[in-house]
Amino acid sequence: MGGFQTSIFAFLGVLSLTLLLVHAQDQSDFISIDCGLPANSTYKEETISIDYISDANYIDTGISRSIASEFKGTQQQQVWNVRSFPQGVRNCYTINITRGTKYLIRGTFVHGNYDGEGDLPEFDLYLGTNMWDTVKVANASYSIIKELIHVPSRNYIHVCLVNTGLGTPFISAIEFRALKKNSYVTKSGSLALLLRADAGSTSNQSYRYAYDVYDRLWLHYNNNKWKDLSTGLTIDSQSQNDYQPASVVMSTAATPINESAPMEFYWEADDPNTQFYIFMHFAEVVKLEPNQSRSFNITLNGKYMYGPLVPDYLSTTTLYSTSPETGGQKYVFSIFKAENSTLPPILNAIEIYSVKDFLQPETDQADGDAIRKIKSTYGIKRDWQGDPCAPKQYLWKGLDCSYVGDNAPRITSLNLSSSGLTGEISADISNLLMLQSLDLSNNSLTGSVPDFLSTLPNLRVLNLEQNKLTGSVPIELIERRDNGSLSLSVRENSDLCGSRSCKKNKNNVVIPIVASVIGGLLVLTLIVMAICWGIRRRTKQAAMVDTESHMQNLSTLESLQRQFTYSELLGITNNFERILGKGGFGTVYHGYIDNTQVAVKMLSHSSVQGYQQFHSEVRLLMRVHHRNLTTLVGYCYEGTNMGLVYEYMANGDLEAHLSDGNAKTLTWEDRLRIATDAAQGLEYLHCGCKPPIVHRDVKTTNILLNENLQAKLADFGLSKIFPIDGGTHVSTVVAGTPGYLDPEYYITNWLTEKSDVYSFGVVLLEIITGRPVIERSEERTHVSQFVSSMLARGDIKNIADPRLHGNFNSNSVWRAVEIAMGCVSSTAAKRPTMSQVVVDLKECMATELARANEGDSRKSMEMINMDLATELNPLAR
Ligand SMILES: *[C@@H]1O[C@H](CO)[C@@H](O)[C@H](O)[C@H]1NC(C)=O
Ligand SMILES: *[C@@H]1O[C@H](CO)[C@@H](O)[C@H](O)[C@H]1NC(C)=O
Ligand SMILES: *[C@@H]1O[C@H](CO)[C@@H](O)[C@H](O)[C@H]1NC(C)=O
Ligand SMILES: *[C@@H]1O[C@H](CO)[C@@H](O)[C@H](O)[C@H]1NC(C)=O
Ligand SMILES: *[C@@H]1O[C@H](CO)[C@@H](O)[C@H](O)[C@H]1NC(C)=O
Ligand SMILES: *[C@@H]1O[C@H](CO)[C@@H](O)[C@H](O)[C@H]1NC(C)=O
Ligand SMILES: *[C@@H]1O[C@H](CO)[C@@H](O)[C@H](O)[C@H]1NC(C)=O
Ligand SMILES: *[C@@H]1O[C@H](CO)[C@@H](O)[C@H](O)[C@H]1NC(C)=O
Ligand SMILES: *[C@@H]1O[C@H](CO)[C@@H](O)[C@H](O)[C@H]1NC(C)=O
Ligand SMILES: *[C@@H]1O[C@H](CO)[C@@H](O)[C@H](O)[C@H]1NC(C)=O
Repeated sequence: MGGFQTSIFAFLGVLSLTLLLVHAQDQSDFISIDCGLPANSTYKEETISIDYISDANYIDTGISRSIASEFKGTQQQQVWNVRSFPQGVRNCYTINITRGTKYLIRGTFVHGNYDGEGDLPEFDLYLGTNMWDTVKVANASYSIIKELIHVPSRNYIHVCLVNTGLGTPFISAIEFRALKKNSYVTKSGSLALLLRADAGSTSNQSYRYAYDVYDRLWLHYNNNKWKDLSTGLTIDSQSQNDYQPASVVMSTAATPINESAPMEFYWEADDPNTQFYIFMHFAEVVKLEPNQSRSFNITLNGKYMYGPLVPDYLSTTTLYSTSPETGGQKYVFSIFKAENSTLPPILNAIEIYSVKDFLQPETDQADGDAIRKIKSTYGIKRDWQGDPCAPKQYLWKGLDCSYVGDNAPRITSLNLSSSGLTGEISADISNLLMLQSLDLSNNSLTGSVPDFLSTLPNLRVLNLEQNKLTGSVPIELIERRDNGSLSLSVRENSDLCGSRSCKKNKNNVVIPIVASVIGGLLVLTLIVMAICWGIRRRTKQAAMVDTESHMQNLSTLESLQRQFTYSELLGITNNFERILGKGGFGTVYHGYIDNTQVAVKMLSHSSVQGYQQFHSEVRLLMRVHHRNLTTLVGYCYEGTNMGLVYEYMANGDLEAHLSDGNAKTLTWEDRLRIATDAAQGLEYLHCGCKPPIVHRDVKTTNILLNENLQAKLADFGLSKIFPIDGGTHVSTVVAGTPGYLDPEYYITNWLTEKSDVYSFGVVLLEIITGRPVIERSEERTHVSQFVSSMLARGDIKNIADPRLHGNFNSNSVWRAVEIAMGCVSSTAAKRPTMSQVVVDLKECMATELARANEGDSRKSMEMINMDLATELNPLAR
């Protein structure tokens, strides 16, 4: 038996690549970083025709070194320099990428005795907050290569080297290559490369770019029981295969010397829990005579996996696992000649990956973005690299974070005392919404104490001592100090008034003096000019049509966030002229604030809890911002007149778009995007808000669409202001739509986030099937009963909305059904979290987009046919 063992990694060892230059291809999806190259330098490595750039823009720390000259001769230029990290435990690169893209990420490490000491280190490599692998240098001449196929969820990625006490970490090169979305698909996790081999290679060369469009590195592999077959012709000249292995790799194949013997190879797993994915690439390289045939079966540990397979002439067929192989110590693959085949089996190329589950969450994105901006505003050096909060042992100095379950950590404390800060207090601090303690004492901060500090809802400690701040402390902060909810210190500032009796604003004092001296006219002119300027600005904004202007309008609105009088509402809505809709909480009218459209919801006043409660809840909701939540602009509370003012959503609610009467059918891609938007809105309410907000009334009429069909949740948090006991709940709020209510709620009377997940599952089923939640027929079938019965019959095709006319990737629909059925599990514990739902829906979207982009030209086959019966059982309710 030929040996493919994990020890083949030794053979990643001496990689002296002498590759020929093929015509250069597009590198726009490549990021190729030469670590340790002097700042601003670039060059083209001629042997592979790849352009490398210096790493200086991606990292603040480490020192640039060169490998010893005797190692350079056999190596490509990108490893001639290294960046080494004698200082600090964790050093991180921050690299901008495109989130949602599937990347091949490669780290290269060639020690090359760069330190002249010959001490070979061992250290850890992290991707963001998660351990990726350990780098152990066994020989200064070896190229150690770590590769990962990974879909980042943020627009940047951190690659970190961690000193584990076994020598100084260093790195030679970092490379990113974008892959096709629907290649290398996993059920979960990312793929770490174990082996990528070019079987039957007639040369001793390894191949990468420009032979391989994705710059995968193919190492030649031979086995003494195999012989080589090859063709001089190009394989896949039409590039139909999603994986597109290099033609030069596919044009050679291995075949057994003993024609009746199977081709066998194996590897051993250190840990039987490791999950593996295998990708085998086949192409016929021999022009067969009419009386010849080649077909074969493939087994794993003696178990039939696929066959008979007949490779196509000069065209790649890729076999891949659709679910991971696991549970074994030894994985033995055999490729057998089928009964009526006249020729023995072949194998052109193979890839083996293990699954890495990256579970440690990164810091909340808004917090992370804010603290990085603060870092750059004040030019803070320190150890501020990589993720601010995670893993916990590398928490940035001066920060404290909260770590609750699997939620993204949040920054709760920022201490920048005695840090030499200059300039004003950074407005980015206002985005650290969970901040409890802020210490900026003993710096040289100037300007006033900004109002936004009083909007931080959880702030308990604020220390601004020993700065050069001027003006007066906002009255809200003083009130909070006086009622004991805030510890506020403002001693030793230049000219800062910290008591209630300060003059409010110096500028207010100045203007009347000027006015009285120069006369009223000038002031009047100034005011008129200011108004005109304001109007012109607004008109210009309204005239723009792109989304950016929409954002701008929103931010004008947001800055207006306020309490309206009833008469202002009359003006805004032109005496409640145009009704947009009616809902459980009241009637919605169309209106304008300046030139921006708004929706005004006038509330039926039966059950509001009273002004205090209304006021504080609404103020809380006005602080909840997310692109998938309708923005609350303001409110009105005057006697029995209660109103809420929202941004206007031009395309109405989702129910109308799904109903039969709608002329234009939403495509599958539209539907997935809407579902993902709504899921993100809910995820934010559940995970991004403290305390979490349970929506309690998720349904298609509460999902609104703007002019770009972007979906936003409406009415979140309202049921908190309008407490609803069992009876009124059914009669006033869910009347007509009881199908959304979590069945477990009936038993426990306890509404949780998982109740929203249930309702979301129902919405998703409506999106998939295009059917109403409860059929308007005698049987009054619930949409989940309909789907369950179709699943039980194995009739998957008829689940999707017939109006889609089959225009979708069936795997994508199938996966969406699976997600929805998980959400509507009768027990809350079995339902996924909204975060999981978001991740899963994005995968569905990736699958669908890949189809839409490439038509159905894919040539890959699935290695294991999905066993529908076993897949279905856990879903049936
Ligand atoms: C690199 O370029 C930037 C901007 O062009 C410049 O500010 C910087 O000084 C350069 N660095 C070196 C080391 O040349
Ligand atoms: C990465 O993106 C951020 C935000 O878009 C930007 O501020 C930063 O300059 C970018 N970094 C590099 C190295 O391009
Ligand atoms: C490192 O590898 C080279 C080439 O394979 C070999 O000649 C040398 O002896 C090795 N060095 C050590 C310390 O093993
Ligand atoms: C490949 O390498 C082996 C041993 O390293 C050598 O015997 C063989 O001649 C080489 N083949 C070619 C085509 O260079
Ligand atoms: C060829 O393989 C077959 C099946 O494995 C075996 O029975 C036969 O002995 C082998 N022949 C030789 C010459 O090894
Ligand atoms: C196939 O046909 C060729 C002539 O075209 C002949 O030489 C060969 O023996 C045949 N092979 C088989 C297996 O029948
Ligand atoms: C190959 O698989 C087919 C289909 O399952 C089966 O009928 C056949 O017996 C298998 N042949 C061998 C040699 O295992
Ligand atoms: C024989 O092989 C061909 C492919 O070459 C296949 O299509 C056919 O089904 C096979 N016949 C049997 C009886 O296995
Ligand atoms: C901030 O750090 C300084 C010294 O590093 C310490 O004296 C001070 O107590 C800290 N502030 C808070 C609020 O913990
Ligand atoms: C204030 O900061 C300076 C350095 O910026 C430091 O030398 C001094 O000890 C600090 N004073 C206090 C009271 O922390």
